[in-house]
Amino acid sequence: MTELFELYKRNFPFVVREERKVLDILGDPDNRILEKRNADGALNGACVVHKNTVYMLCVDREYRGCGIGSDLLRQAEAFIRDAGYEDVSVGAGDTYLAPGVPTSCPVCTEEDYAGRGVEQLYGGLTDGAAEFFRKRGYVHSWGNCDCFDMRFPLTEFVSDGHSVGDTVDGITYRFASAEDITEIKKCTDDAHENFTKYYLDTSKYDGSNGERVLIAVDAADGTTVCGTLIVCAETEGKGLGSVGCTTVRHDYRGRHIAVNMVRIGTGYLKEIGLTDAYLGYTYTGLDRLYGYSGYKICTYYMMAKKQL
Ligand SMILES: CC(C)(COP(=O)(O)OP(=O)(O)OC[C@H]1O[C@@H](n2cnc3c(N)ncnc32)[C@H](O)[C@@H]1OP(=O)(O)O)[C@@H](O)C(=O)NCCC(=O)NCCS
Repeated sequence: MTELFELYKRNFPFVVREERKVLDILGDPDNRILEKRNADGALNGACVVHKNTVYMLCVDREYRGCGIGSDLLRQAEAFIRDAGYEDVSVGAGDTYLAPGVPTSCPVCTEEDYAGRGVEQLYGGLTDGAAEFFRKRGYVHSWGNCDCFDMRFPLTEFVSDGHSVGDTVDGITYRFASAEDITEIKKCTDDAHENFTKYYLDTSKYDGSNGERVLIAVDAADGTTVCGTLIVCAETEGKGLGSVGCTTVRHDYRGRHIAVNMVRIGTGYLKEIGLTDAYLGYTYTGLDRLYGYSGYKICTYYMMAKKQL
């Protein structure tokens, strides 16, 4: 497992995922792991398959261009076909290491991310891996919608003067405690039910693991939770904070409640001394929401899929 984890770290330097989570995913006993080794017996390429998802395909840089990746992918596709599936996805399935294939190229031709100042790609990121999959029949499965991660250095964060505890335009922004879970659930069920499970985890409310829940409460009644945001400190790396699972109840949307939660949550990450802020696995349109706080797209993902 250590060898496979080291191979992953060498080949996916840009992917932000908790180490514990990565080890759990790589170690799932239901995975099929295809390996390539060099003459000394060291692991230099691997493909990790789970059901009909390729969680990871990589070949160490110095061994690329010799057909190792093509051979691993052929074997993976044959295995998936033999298991009775009609298609294969790269990246996200039951869970994910990266949501898709990291690439420097967006698919939305009408979006001008760079022109709007919300793109600052990781140095060295190319379209090479996506091109590898395109040549082998894979297509982006999200239509004309991009998937991407965003981040930015917190030294560049500019506060609008509001912080945790403040009331802005009739909405109070504060950290939640376990007593708020019932109201939080009403909000997330209304906004996006798939996110509710993340908010039911009580460790987010007792300060035990660096994760906290920022809520937006209607100051008129003091109870209605109209927005939620998960704010994490150093769960995915030293000096790195993140925000995610943003929700706003339908009847409160369009009032910049999400924009304010992200800005206040990000300000908190700076206040506690973190150096970078990050958010993963988001999509076209939300670059605008997160862009208000300064987040910039650092990598795109080709959500690669192929009919077998
Ligand atoms: C995304 C969500 C939190 C936005 O809430 P909101 O209160 O409407 O957002 P805000 O009013 O603060 O502003 C959002 C900004 O992003 C823009 N935006 C672009 N695409 C958007 C989209 N698909 N959804 C919402 N806002 C979008 C808005 O136009 C607005 O910018 P503007 O004022 O310059 O026009 C809300 O739609 C929601 O709960 N969705 C379901 C959960 C989800 O998908 N969360 C995001 C993934 S983490």
